Amino acid sequence: LRIAVLFGGRSAEHEVSVLSATNVMSALDPEKYDAVPIFITREGQWLLSRFEDGRLATPSSGTEVCLVPGGHGRMLAVPARGTPHELARIDVLFPVLHGPHGEDGSVQGLAEVARVPLAGCGILGSAAALDKDIAKRLLRAAGLPVARAVTIDQGDAPSLTALEIELGLPLFIKPARQGSSVGVAKVHASQEFAPALAEAFRHDRILLAEEFIAGREIEFSVLEDAAGGLFVSRPGEIVPAESHRFYNYDAKYVDENGAALKVPADLPPELEAAMRDMAAKAFRAVGCDGMARVDFFLTPDMRFVINELNTIPGFTDISMYSKAMAASGVSYAEVIDRLVDHGMA
Ligand code: DAL
Ligand code: MG
Repeated sequence: LRIAVLFGGRSAEHEVSVLSATNVMSALDPEKYDAVPIFITREGQWLLSRFEDGRLATPSSGTEVCLVPGGHGRMLAVPARGTPHELARIDVLFPVLHGPHGEDGSVQGLAEVARVPLAGCGILGSAAALDKDIAKRLLRAAGLPVARAVTIDQGDAPSLTALEIELGLPLFIKPARQGSSVGVAKVHASQEFAPALAEAFRHDRILLAEEFIAGREIEFSVLEDAAGGLFVSRPGEIVPAESHRFYNYDAKYVDENGAALKVPADLPPELEAAMRDMAAKAFRAVGCDGMARVDFFLTPDMRFVINELNTIPGFTDISMYSKAMAASGVSYAEVIDRLVDHGMA
């Protein structure tokens, strides 16, 4: 099977995507898959890449590629010099892109238009899950527990006093559509509020102010099979280092000791079962299919809320999705096979 792996991309998680895609490329069994890596520049150009010695090329110019609408996987190559020509047809598109313009339904829509099978979540679930405001509304409507939050539109931000009455302090300010904690700040006092809003508005015109939930971060990997059945992994736990104020971008990717992953997390069996069940319900409530990682907060008195769903979760060395699957008996290679089977079904 010829599988096109899309990576890089226009979002703030461009570099995270390069790390994720490097691991996906390494996990693709060359006996089964003929992988075509396609690098998306920060400007959004699609360029043919190469995978050599465990590294993905991230060129700044070169051969542009495009998927032909209605072409069932036909792809055209447009070299910087020379004549455009047709590449071998791809069988499946695997976007390993995080955040806006990749994890948000846009590339998933392109796969529909091109009539090419897609590995992972489709248009609606991708778009809904990437938007924390919309996802929360859907989860709430399904009766699932979420942290209290207030939606903030650009030009109409409430005062911190008003938010404090509703949510208490500290609270989080988050762009509605971002990942990897980009643009997220924890606000303890008034002098932190304006800078937090300014930073978050750099990333989106809609923000969430969310109550701070002191508790453990527990995550589940959800994978749908070709017949529509859901597999939910054992829980994984993120244990951020004391030195980080929360599990932010630096704790995730910059500081090697920023956080530890504990898989499986130590939970009472009934609680684990209840949370796994909730992860599956959340997956359905947000309209996901294929794959998602469902993230929870668990309070010291064992109450839990759903924090968010990630439809293209990180596949970096420190990422939870594949680790939680491995702890549940599903290897990295098997995850990819199942995603491909699901997409082609
Ligand atoms: N947004 C990052 C990649 C994650 O959810 O793992
Ligand atoms: Mg996320």
